[in-house]
Amino acid sequence: MPFLSSFIPEDSINDPVVTGVDNIFLMADTLAIKDSRTGKEYQIPIVDGTIRAADLRQIKTGDKDFGLETYDPGLVNTAVCKSKITYIDGDAGILRYRGYPIEELAEKKEYLEVAYLLVNGELPTKSQYEDWVHNITYHTMVHENVKKFFDGFHYDAHPMGMLVSSIAALSTFYPGAKQIFDENSRRLQIFRLIGKIPTLAAFAYRHSQGMSYIYPSNDLKYAANFLAMMYRPSWTTKYEPNPVLAKALDVLFVLHADHEQNCSTNAMRSVGSSHPDPYSAAAAATAALYGPLHGGANEEVVRMLEEIGSKEKIPEIISQVKSGKRLLMGFGHRVYKNYDPRARIIKKISEEVFAVTGRNPLLDIALELEKVALSDDYFIKRKLYPNVDFYSGLIYQAMGFPMDIFPVLFAIPRMSGWLSQWQEGLLDPDQKIVRPRQIYTGYPERHVPE
Ligand code: SDX
Repeated sequence: MPFLSSFIPEDSINDPVVTGVDNIFLMADTLAIKDSRTGKEYQIPIVDGTIRAADLRQIKTGDKDFGLETYDPGLVNTAVCKSKITYIDGDAGILRYRGYPIEELAEKKEYLEVAYLLVNGELPTKSQYEDWVHNITYHTMVHENVKKFFDGFHYDAHPMGMLVSSIAALSTFYPGAKQIFDENSRRLQIFRLIGKIPTLAAFAYRHSQGMSYIYPSNDLKYAANFLAMMYRPSWTTKYEPNPVLAKALDVLFVLHADHEQNCSTNAMRSVGSSHPDPYSAAAAATAALYGPLHGGANEEVVRMLEEIGSKEKIPEIISQVKSGKRLLMGFGHRVYKNYDPRARIIKKISEEVFAVTGRNPLLDIALELEKVALSDDYFIKRKLYPNVDFYSGLIYQAMGFPMDIFPVLFAIPRMSGWLSQWQEGLLDPDQKIVRPRQIYTGYPERHVPE
């Protein structure tokens, strides 16, 4: 028990602290709790704006009682870890990676520099960056047998299903990855996962198109290399990705790299807490991202905009949402109760992309939908603003990506965030295997009938 112990004699550390000025040893912030069931009073320390849930266990009605627990479905109001990686102020619409504002990183840094920052805690020096890029570049290839996994999928397999499976399969190629507390092994797996996820993503796309797989080109930068593996007609034909689109994709990778304890990162940390190899944890995180409420939303946004089809249909959709018949995909956020700063940047990038690809006609519907929603009390009262997924899909569609690839484009950069969070959790002495409690609401004991 941190902090509190410096104010209360060791032997009475767990006793309920008797109130009264001369008996209060505490100088710290505390939460005074009076249990009406027993009349006992407790002083629970408040540290970093939280109380430790374990401190509630002393609040009992008797010896048989396990003690008070918290009930928080979806962990809406529960901090599960301490982290130095990403900071979000949802009310102010602030997002920082290792203290740097997302707006500055998106404007000034490449995705691999930001990936280095997330994983290592500082921006790289020139030589550190050269080593980092070299190591990741030389780990973009996958074992030839990996292609057989993709060949085994149905022609219409969803790319996210293929990505989840192939990331998990990689764990069988690198048994040494189980040495998660060996720093060199961890660093090697981080190179491999950041390097190989674009290759796996491109293989999933090529399989779905019935095209041959294109290997990575070591002379191309990260985002350009991914575009080449996606769109190069064949290995024998030269292919230069459009530099404006490659740059726009790199910025989108920066914006999607990390986002503190979102659903998929929580999956990465939770699975990681039982100490498997990082490929297995990353497969779980990718599966969590697949959901339409999370990373799958960018695909659902475009499907929704296509269903709307014209500005005239917007009032009908808004009334369906307000009557609870559907969600407005790309709107709302567990943390942001303001405009998602990433959505603002993505909206700006869309103009640069559309200057090359031609304007996506769905943009006009999206802009009108945002205008109508942000002036409607239903959304204002619930603080529902466009999130990162509202505009990203429009850019991806304009860049020629099929809709079912959109969540894959989210997973590629989020890999560096997942790995930085996984590593931080592993090295945190406070972390234990994740094993939540429950409120049992089932049958009392009963016996199997003869
Ligand atoms: C991402 O967590 C992260 O950081 C995620 C992410 C990341 O970078 O990792 O930012 C990426 O996942 C962005 C979110 C993408 N998902 C969507 O766009 C899907 C649509 N959004 C909703 O599903 C929802 O807003 C969530 C899941 C994003 C957040 O849900 P919460 O925090 O659990 O909020 P809630 O469901 O408790 O909603 C509060 C109220 C409810 O209404 P009431 O019951 O109070 O009347 O707002 C309503 C909800 O019905 N509401 C919506 C809505 N989102 C919330 N109503 C209509 N449309 C919506 N989109």
